[in-house]
Parts: sequence; C-alpha cells; structure tokens
Amino acid sequence: MNSPQPTMAFAPQGQQATRGPLEEVLDGLRSPQKTLPCKLFYDERGSQLFDEICELDEYYVTRTELSIMEKHSNEMAAALGPETLLVEYGSGASTKTRLLLEQLENPAGYVPIDISGDYLLETSEQLSRDYPAVPVYPLAADFTAQFDLPVAAQRRGNRAVYFPGSTIGNFEVSEAAQLLKNVAKLVGSSGKLLIGVDLEKKPEILRNAYSDSKGITAEFNRNILSHINVAYRGTFDVNSFDHQAVYNADKARIEMRLLSSRDQTVRVCEEIFTFAAGESILTEYSHKYTVERFGAIARDAGLSLREVWTDPENLFSVQLYEVA
Ligand code: TRP
Repeated sequence: MNSPQPTMAFAPQGQQATRGPLEEVLDGLRSPQKTLPCKLFYDERGSQLFDEICELDEYYVTRTELSIMEKHSNEMAAALGPETLLVEYGSGASTKTRLLLEQLENPAGYVPIDISGDYLLETSEQLSRDYPAVPVYPLAADFTAQFDLPVAAQRRGNRAVYFPGSTIGNFEVSEAAQLLKNVAKLVGSSGKLLIGVDLEKKPEILRNAYSDSKGITAEFNRNILSHINVAYRGTFDVNSFDHQAVYNADKARIEMRLLSSRDQTVRVCEEIFTFAAGESILTEYSHKYTVERFGAIARDAGLSLREVWTDPENLFSVQLYEVA
C-alpha cells in the first residue's frame, strides 16, 4: 500500500527569531560571562553524540522516561482523547512518540517540529510508512521562536503538544514560563500539554549523568565549538577547552561549561575574542524540578495539572496539563 508522502514545511525566516543564530553566537561571546546557544549542539555529529549519551548507564534520563512511556502510554493516550493532533517540540528520532501514536484513538495527525531539517524528513517518511493512518506534517523550525502550524494541519483535531526529554529544563525558569504560555496559546482552550520533566535528586546522580566516565558528554559539549568553526568561520582550538558540569543546588540545575585551558584568542566571523586561562563559556543549563514547583509555573501559564506519571525511584516525571 502506498503511504502518503509527508511534505515538509519551513517556518518562514521573518517569522523566526529576529536575531539570527550568528548574532546569538557573537552576542553570547561578547558578554562578560561568555555563553553559547545550546541549540547549536545539534549538528549532525552533535545529534549522534547525543544519541550515544542517551545509551549511557549514567544518563538515567532517556531510559527512565522511555520506561514510563512504555508502562503508561495507554493511559496517556486515553487522557489525550480521540482525534488528537499531536504537535511535538524537538522531535528528534520520535522514538517515544511511537508509543503514543500506537495508542491514540483515531489521531488527527502528527506535527513533528525540529531544528534539524534533514533528520526530520527522514523520520517523518519512516513514520508515514509505519503508521499509514496518521497524517504527518513535519515542520522545520526553532520552536522557541514564533511559528505557525503547517496550513494542512491547522484545522485538524484537538491540539496537544508533546514535549518530552526534559528539554524544558534547558531553559531559564523565566524562558520556560514564556514557552509554556506560548504552548497554551497554540493548543487553545481545552488543549493539552504532555511534558517530560526531570526531577530533583541526589547531586551525585546528577553530576555523573552530565560527566560520564567515557567522556561522551565532554565530547558533546566541545562539539559545539567544532560546529561554530564550520558554520560561522570560527577558529576554536577545540582541545584547549575542558568540559565541566556542576550542580548548583540553590538554582536546582546542572550548569555545563567549557573552560579554556590557557590564555588564547579566537576569531568567529572576523571578530576577535580573548580567553584567560580558566575562563569559561556557559553552554547549557539543565534545571531539575519538583512536581509542585513545575506545576506552579505551568499554572501561571494557564495550564492545569491533570495527571503525573513517574518511575518507582521518582527520578523522572511525565505530566499532563490542560488549558484551564
Ligand atoms: N534535555 C536533556 C537534559 O537536560 C538532554 C540534554 C540536552 C543533554 N543537552 C544535554 C544531556 C547535554 C546531556 C548533556 O538532560
């Protein structure tokens, strides 16, 4: 049987971030605490390394979330209800989504959104072959910027956003709050949000998860510099930066940095940046929440908690919200 071929939509440039990624890179490197935008982790090599991180013993996040989905996807699908239009933020390989697509009653469609366009089309084609009854409307976009759903999906079904992976934790709390408001607006009244949220736990477990013994996370962290070298004419000596992941207990977050091992200067797109030995670039936060703390942020965004699923050790949570 012929399955429909998904056509990919691209968010129009003007509709996306006002500052392009290059401006974000330069602005970040100009600030007193140098920073880099964490979405630049995900070039092809970065996406591969991330997949390797997900397989590590120390990185409990992916396997724990998957185990929760495997156990409860039937209840989740029932709570989402029939004729759901499932919109996924940062769809990647869509592995966990399959569990939902298999359980949903008469789904109106699936809109995977990802910043990495090539990977997205491949995944979408595979999904269309595997689930011929579910129309797939891939959207290549940065979900943190403004975007519209693909036109063909706009009038379909009851909207629900699926946002797994605890990617919400990679945003500052104020940014996360804004993102949730945008989600509430996108899904509209009685729309839903199914979101993976990593929970607070012993700092030791967290430190190991973000500084694994094989050094894959370190390589992943440093790869952002290689990406900038290629994409924005950078001259980073990648091996002169060391990976660091510390847990900031006051802010309940892992902070990932790259530390310059010596005094050096680096050019990015003709602009010169100096680094003192030991100076850091902040590359990513990963915030951890309690169900209560996250629920309060969601409530402020107009979302009411309906259900929470966790693993027996309470490492991770999948939470269902509805626009009040
Ligand atoms: N959002 C996930 C987390 O914070 C995955 C992730 C993003 C990640 N960047 C990472 C994991 C860097 C390890 C290292 O855990």
